[in-house]
Amino acid sequence: MKAGEKFVLGSIGVLLLFGMIRSFTHVKQDHERDIPYYSTASHEVAERATEIYRVNGCKECHSLWTMKDMMETVPAPILDGIGSLRSESWLYDYLSSSDPQSMLKSRLKKEYMMPSYAKLPEDDRRILAEYLASLKVKDWYLEQTKKAEYEKLTGLEYKK
Ligand code: HEC
Repeated sequence: MKAGEKFVLGSIGVLLLFGMIRSFTHVKQDHERDIPYYSTASHEVAERATEIYRVNGCKECHSLWTMKDMMETVPAPILDGIGSLRSESWLYDYLSSSDPQSMLKSRLKKEYMMPSYAKLPEDDRRILAEYLASLKVKDWYLEQTKKAEYEKLTGLEYKK
């Protein structure tokens, strides 16, 4: 092999190596920034709440962990990160209210509005509120989350 060829091959090798290192570190960074949502709930609370959430058809209207019934198009707020916007006691009161719209005005038709869950057993409402309050959003995505919630609730453009 001529010296020139060695040099070319060597350079390509070095470039490939740098490319690989870069893509590895970048994938990691993107991945870390990709998912701004997390929950601080214990495994037990998460499991019980998820079951109550499922049985009561919350995902017919809401999306959580990017899961929502595909056929449904109700513009309900996304619940990811809701625990950074609302307190546990507010969530409990909201789920317990016989008239949720008195706490949070709706802009939707009656059939799309948040139904009252006042008739759920108190324990279920407590677990749901505890779990919802544990759904947090990382700081770098908080403003985005507020914006999305505001726009869903009001249909208006969000101005900081
Ligand atoms: C029929 C559709 C529908 C169902 C089913 C439903 N919701 Fe809602 N929910 C809404 C809508 C729409 C809003 C926004 C307020 C309004 O328009 O009444 C809302 C608001 C909320 C909020 C307040 C969000 C905020 O921005 O502060 C929470 C929390 C919530 N729902 C949780 C739940 C849970 C938990 C369940 C199941 C137990 C559930 N929802 C079932 C439609 C629904």
